[in-house]
Amino acid sequence: MDTRPIGVFDSGLGGLTAVRQLRRVLPGEDIVYFGDTGRVPYGSRGRDIIVQYARQDIRFLLQQDVKFIIAACGTVSSTYPPEEAARLPVPFTGVVGATARAAVDATRNRKIGIIGTAATVRSGSYAAIIRDMMPDVQIFARACPMFVPLVENGYFNDGNPVTKLIIAEYLQELKDAGVDTLILGCTHYPLLKKMIGDFMGDEVHLVDSGKVTAQAAAAALDDLGLLNGKKTGGTARYFVSDTPDNFDELAHTFLGEYAGGTVERIAIET
Ligand code: SIN
Repeated sequence: MDTRPIGVFDSGLGGLTAVRQLRRVLPGEDIVYFGDTGRVPYGSRGRDIIVQYARQDIRFLLQQDVKFIIAACGTVSSTYPPEEAARLPVPFTGVVGATARAAVDATRNRKIGIIGTAATVRSGSYAAIIRDMMPDVQIFARACPMFVPLVENGYFNDGNPVTKLIIAEYLQELKDAGVDTLILGCTHYPLLKKMIGDFMGDEVHLVDSGKVTAQAAAAALDDLGLLNGKKTGGTARYFVSDTPDNFDELAHTFLGEYAGGTVERIAIET
């Protein structure tokens, strides 16, 4: 039993899609979230910068005395060195492993699409793990660099014409390839899930990386004996690196009925 909070971080607010699921499956756990809203997006940056930012984000969460860290960010999960993660003083998980597993379980025709940031797709992280699990799989990966700015700026309302156009531009080749499973490899993308689903068609299974990672993290916390034993009443503290002015409004969209908690701005550069 461990009463310390769970730490979750992302380049911005997309990781709140994982927090939403975490609150659903572990309603008694306390959560500390850091969204690096002052430096989002990470996905168009080079590897060294992403690793540097990830180290700073993790250091901040460790200062909050968290018991477990979730990198609810496809870009960090694909870039932060696993050997460094293994040396952290608390268990760490990214989104890639659980998401790849869910996609392999879901596909019937062994054609899996992966969408993510430029850094995520360039890293080949999802493809490598999926091929280990299913060697004869066909993988179709596509970077979608404009999705994160669209989401962070609120362009996710159903039917938004700009977003619709960009979805078609990015996803037509995956649709033509006949993928039956599509990994939403960035935690911002669930906000576009309805529009992506409308474009890809009902027969395509969409894997939400934040959601499956939160479920896997809950199971890991249980296995490690790290749950706090409470069934209700978990608190949430949110930290951001840019002004928190519109946080309440956006957080409500990302968290739905699980919105609530305090928000504070911090200086992350160290
Ligand atoms: C980004 O910061 O570019 C997106 C974060 C992610 O990959 O989940």
